[in-house]
Amino acid sequence: MFSTAFLDLPPLQTASGTVALPGSKSISNRVLLLSALCEGTTVVHDLLDSDDTQVMLAALRQLGCGVEVQGTTVTITGLGGRAQADAPIAFFMGNAGTAMRPLTAALAVMGGDFTLSGVPRMHERPIGDLVDALRLLGCQIDYLGNEGFPPLRIGKPTLQLNAPIQVRGDVSSQFLTALLMALPLVSQDQDITIQVVGELISKPYIDITLNLLARFGIAVRNDAHSAFVIPRGSRYQSPGSIHVEADASSASYFIGLGAIVSGPGIRIEGVGADSIQGDIRFVEAAQSMGAVVAKGPNWLHISRGQWPLRAITGDFNHIPDAAMTLAVMALYADGPSELRNIASWRVKETDRIAAMATELRKLGAHVEEGPDWLRIHPLSAENWKPASIHTYDDHRIAMCFSLAAFNPAGLPVRIEDPKCVGKTFPDYFEALFAVAQAAPSVIPVLCVDGPTASGKGTLASTLAAQLGYHFLDSGALYRITAYAALQAGLALDEAHADAIAALAATLDIRFEGERVWLGAQDISEAIRTEQAGMNASAVSSLGAVRAALIDLQHSFRRLPGLVADGRDMGTVIFPDATLKVYLTASAACRAQRRYKQLIAKGVSTTLDTLCADLESRDARDSSRAVAPLKPAQDAELLDNSALTVESSVTQVLNWWQSRQPFLTTAVE
Ligand code: DC
Repeated sequence: MFSTAFLDLPPLQTASGTVALPGSKSISNRVLLLSALCEGTTVVHDLLDSDDTQVMLAALRQLGCGVEVQGTTVTITGLGGRAQADAPIAFFMGNAGTAMRPLTAALAVMGGDFTLSGVPRMHERPIGDLVDALRLLGCQIDYLGNEGFPPLRIGKPTLQLNAPIQVRGDVSSQFLTALLMALPLVSQDQDITIQVVGELISKPYIDITLNLLARFGIAVRNDAHSAFVIPRGSRYQSPGSIHVEADASSASYFIGLGAIVSGPGIRIEGVGADSIQGDIRFVEAAQSMGAVVAKGPNWLHISRGQWPLRAITGDFNHIPDAAMTLAVMALYADGPSELRNIASWRVKETDRIAAMATELRKLGAHVEEGPDWLRIHPLSAENWKPASIHTYDDHRIAMCFSLAAFNPAGLPVRIEDPKCVGKTFPDYFEALFAVAQAAPSVIPVLCVDGPTASGKGTLASTLAAQLGYHFLDSGALYRITAYAALQAGLALDEAHADAIAALAATLDIRFEGERVWLGAQDISEAIRTEQAGMNASAVSSLGAVRAALIDLQHSFRRLPGLVADGRDMGTVIFPDATLKVYLTASAACRAQRRYKQLIAKGVSTTLDTLCADLESRDARDSSRAVAPLKPAQDAELLDNSALTVESSVTQVLNWWQSRQPFLTTAVE
């Protein structure tokens, strides 16, 4: 996941390949709870790993469920409808609505001594309608803070289940879902009827619940979505194993992507024709905009048909989340598109109508908005602007605006606070970068060159972490080459240059965080000694070796960008880099830093020897015929002798920002 302050998407050209989507959040948490309420063991495949599912898993463990996690497969040994502990349990629900509501209902009918609390925002999210319905059933629930809101205390119920239970249809469908999942626990002796008062909103979400209940052995009778009957004698039965289908709204970004890029298209795995989610109908909307769609039970293949896309106008009440993706696709259409009956956007993570209009306008689009509609005019190449998209802690805004990076103007798009995608799709951007392609020349590179012990490595790796970019420690490549050459019995001199170069071209190198692997060997320590540095300096003066390592270094230039450190990053390897920094510090200062590092490692040395070594290495690196160490003509010079790492990082980030084209109008 990108936890940087912002993520800059370079202009993306096309995309192709396969995306395996993570499990849906609401299906994941429903399936976890249902598995916990069964007797016996259920193997849940493709579970989403997110804040909400972590909260649910922690609660199930507290209740005494067996929980075994192996990647995205989780094995739950259920409670058979009975909390195992008699002792009081305090549950912390974070901000996980999909865990809070159904657990409240299940715990209330099971009974015990439970408290449920969450983060402050959770204590502002109403739960009164659900508590009222449960109290009418005889459940024992008290508010520990404000009336109508968590935190709650739950005691032992005295259930009266004969009269129908009335629930308002126009409140959160999660309340009805919570009751539908809790009541089969107590339907041994009588039918239980839930009556919906007024029109039921969010029917598709209730259909998901009913579908999953059926998989767990509960055949709810659905009377036109106005009454639901849990038949007497219903009992949870584990399906043995179950796959969590992917979130159909998450699929919408890749469906949109397939519709706008030329080429063979995108295959989406995890959700398809058999989906039980209402948002799968986004496929129809994409088709009417021109997408060509093929599908199987749990996959979709999307490719571009009509181009530009056909403008779309319609009622999108049935796919409110996924319809946000249409708003960005509309920029690529042949006329204005109008999304109607989307009033629910105003009360989601943020006011999505206002937010979408504001951010689309930043891109240059002409957008009109009404209380429950949005009209988006297409954007021609000359009118696109390079915008910094504010994301309002709304995962869907961050994801749908990534499609703007395919703009015909070839402009980058900045996504602020990219980690907000963690709510439903933590690796969204990684998944996007795995299928998207950009011309190498537009993938940004930040070079940090400079002499030995100038602090390049620390500065460059910190910058890479702050920008969410890949990191190339080119010095390590010379160190590894020297190491491998010596192991192969080659002297590090001109006479063996071709043999070392041939070896360098075939090295099996892997960087894993701080660790460096050569084949199956962890050589992280071996290449970091002073001697290894001198050896690297020796092989690095061989022209054939330098040439042999060029392709490997270029291959680090991958989406979304690269920070590269070395001696010739800005002069030879990435001459077109966005920013080149030449980092220096006085020889005395560098020797002092190296001295401290070595002493800390327990290596005995003297300052004088180190100073002499540094100077001789600098002299060799600067005087060699090929790619000598020198600042690129257009490099920014930074002497960090008197600077902390933080202030060096800030200085470089300021240079970096000043070279970006984004209009960063502050938005409240
Ligand atoms: O940055 P470092 O100390 O790990 O580099 C080891 C040696 O490799 C250094 O003395 C010079 C050489 N080198 C180079 O010639 N070109 C680079 N881009 C990086 C390192």
